[in-house]
Formats: sequence, C-alpha cells, structure tokens
Amino acid sequence: MNSFIRLGSCVFFIFTLPFSLLGEKTEGNYFPYGLSSGDPTAGSVIIWSRIESSLPSVEVDYEVALDPEFKKIVKKGSLKTSPATDYTLKTDVQGLEPATTYYYRWSWNGHTSPTGRTRTLPLQAKNFRIALASCQHYGAGFYNAYRFIAQDNPDFILHVGDWIYEFPVYGTFCARPDPVGTAVDLDSYRAKHRLYRTDPDLQEALKNIPLVALWDDHEVQNDYAGKALSFYNPDRMKAAYTAYFEYLPVREQKEWKLYRSLKVGNLFELFLTDGRQYRDEDIWHPATHPSLEALLQATALGRSMLGAEQRKWLIDSLKSSNAFWKFIASGDMMMEIKREGKALNLDQWDGFDWERKEILRSIRENKVKNVIVLSGDSHIFSFGKVLLEGEPLALEIGTAGISSPAGKIEGKEELLKQNPHVLFTDTDHRGYVLLDIGPEGMDIFFYGMTTVLSREAQRVLLKKIHIPRSL
Ligand SMILES: [Fe+2]
Repeated sequence: MNSFIRLGSCVFFIFTLPFSLLGEKTEGNYFPYGLSSGDPTAGSVIIWSRIESSLPSVEVDYEVALDPEFKKIVKKGSLKTSPATDYTLKTDVQGLEPATTYYYRWSWNGHTSPTGRTRTLPLQAKNFRIALASCQHYGAGFYNAYRFIAQDNPDFILHVGDWIYEFPVYGTFCARPDPVGTAVDLDSYRAKHRLYRTDPDLQEALKNIPLVALWDDHEVQNDYAGKALSFYNPDRMKAAYTAYFEYLPVREQKEWKLYRSLKVGNLFELFLTDGRQYRDEDIWHPATHPSLEALLQATALGRSMLGAEQRKWLIDSLKSSNAFWKFIASGDMMMEIKREGKALNLDQWDGFDWERKEILRSIRENKVKNVIVLSGDSHIFSFGKVLLEGEPLALEIGTAGISSPAGKIEGKEELLKQNPHVLFTDTDHRGYVLLDIGPEGMDIFFYGMTTVLSREAQRVLLKKIHIPRSL
C-alpha cells in the first residue's frame, strides 16, 4: 500500500518499500549483497560474499581463476556458513602470485554468483593508485563516488572509517530511507551492513577492486571510545565488531585487533590505525564549544587515542620502515585546527595532544621522512602540514565523506587564516581522493560530487596537488 513514512526529520513517500531496501533476496539471486575482496598481500587476498538461505547450514563453493571464463582455475574450495555468521562467506585465499589479477565466484546448488575481480600486491612497484574514502551514511546520500572510483580502477580502495552509521537519519539530509533504524545489537548491526551493501555503485566498485578498511566511531556509535566508562557496553561492542568482521573483507587477528600494515616493496608502507577501540574517555561534549576543562584534559600527559601497545607499534614501525612513503591511515584528522588558540574538535587528534606529540617527536628524532597521514571523519576535504612546535613533520590528506554531510563552518576564511598550515580545504562537496603514486612523486586528486541526493551526479576535480619525491 502506498504511504508516507517519517524517519527522524526525513519524510519519504513510498509506493511499497522495495524488498531490496530491506536486504531481502530477490527471486533467483542468492548473492544479493554482491562480492568483495580485501587486505591483499603479494601472495593472498580475502574474498567475501553472503548467500541468502534459510537452511541450518550451507556449503558454498568458490573458485579463483586467472581468467574471467574460469578456464585457468588456480584455487578452489568450499566454505560452510550458517546463521552463526549470518550466512556470510569469507576466506583468505593463499598461495597466489604477486601483482596478478584474479577472478573469483561463489556457487551453491547450481546458483552462481557474479564474477568478482581482485589483484594481489606487487613485490615492487613504480606506480600505484589508491582511492581514499570514508563516511558513507546511507540515508544521507547515494554512493555516486564509488561509480567514479570504479572508473578510476585503483589498485585498492582505502576506507578510513564510518563504513556504516548506527543511526538512520542524518539531520535534514534525506536521500533515501534506512528502515533498519538504530543499530544496538547483533541483529541490527548485521541488518545495517546488509542495507549498506545494497547500494549498486558500492557493489560494482567492490566487485572489481580490493578494499583495505579500518573503522572509526560509527561502526559502533557516535564518538565511540572503547576504553571509556561512558561507552562501557561489552555486548554492544561485541555485536558491532562481530558484524564488522563478518561483513568486511578484513583479515582477522586476535581479540578484535584491527591495526596492521601493508607494504609495496620500498615504494610505500601503509600503517592502518585503530583510533577507537583503545581510546580514552570522550571529552568532546558539548560539541560546539569545548569547555576549558576539556581543553586542559586534551593535553593531559598519557592521554591516548591508540593505547600504549599500538602507539609503540606505530612509532617503531615508522622508525624501521625502509619504504619511501610512509602512510598513516587514521580515522581522525591529525592536523591541529584552532580558533583563537583553542582546539575546535577534541574527538580528533586535537583531543590527544600528548600522544600526537610523542609520535611526531619520534618522527623528528629518528629523521623519518615522507610521512603522509590519510584521514577521514571530518566530512571535508583537506590538505596541510602536521606540525610539531611549528616544524612540519608530515603532510595530511583528508577526504570528505562518500555521502555524509559536513556541518557549517562559521567564519571559515578567518579560521583558515588562523591555521595557515592548512593549505587546501573544501567543505561543500562529498566525494573521494585519488592518489597516484609514481616515480616522480605523488599526484593527489580531490574529487567532489555535484550531488548525493540522487544518482545523477557529475564528478568535479576540486584540486590537484603534486607532492614531489624530493619532499
Ligand atoms: Fe563520519
């Protein structure tokens, strides 16, 4: 029956809510959430899908081949799945060759999935292309950016968090209904992951390009801080992280450990950080004007976003890396952003000043060169210098959301004047950043979408920046 539905401040007129929006199977399609691959190394890659079933247990076959016709099959096997893992399918395919394109598919009882494509990392490379993405609130916008990412055909997509949002409506930004509501337990987090994977542009990009992902806060809840008493809810954390590992092609480690590194010869090493699970108490609220007490806490000795173990890993890894570029993937912006000397957003690295200085001091003392932070969370595009006592020790590339909106920044021009280390920003567009790493340096393309409120979007090159190898 035709009806109006109201979700938060969004009103949608619907004829009948399509089953696909509810994450249900359409006739004959046993793999309605698509395929994806991720965490490639030179000899392995994770492949993923989910089968629609109501059986207590299903055994699903997979094949990996050198050609899309599957004449040259190099690996095959089968996986059992069941309601225990929400019928997700995920396996780490090992024994592959470096720098090689592979095709893969799943099949059960005569039903075969579409064909996915993936690629292992090279042992050495002169050229490499990464698409940087983050923040994809489903209700707030369509994932047009993924359509253009698919055209760019990067070696992998780096997603730095807010893959899902636990809440359904983002203020007045109403592109499409999110019938799941607020995720609080395993069933609702799984439903949220299924819903997000129904976007056709997301599916098409993930079918053909490997994903390298880390989480930020909304994979659990807004401003999440795993070590903080105010967020202490082991059942919710377990539910959110279980669903995340079920639905993302991320290599699993012990006890929800997500931080890890990925290396391409001596061209670059990418350090993926987890800024949420081990984070100290949130001091950020009230959001618009941090209190004096919060600003003092932000610089407190020992206050940590990463936790001691991860901080040591990051510092030691940066020190010992022999790669030319050292990327730090961070859910949150590392550059200082201050108005009249006061930090503006204490949920970002500005709320963890001591730990930021520890990392930057080590970079300075150990003469670690060519460090580039790749960050999200801010929902705006940015490029600038990460400073320690006025000395630039890293550059930072921040991407806007794929679909999540940016809040209004009051007095933007004046704010930029007060933060001259921020060299570029765009607050008006959603989109992604493309990094073309080559022998002469790196070209960075900031791509905005003309809209996310419909699928009829164009891509706009907002800025191109070249970082020479002689940095
Ligand atoms: Fe976000």
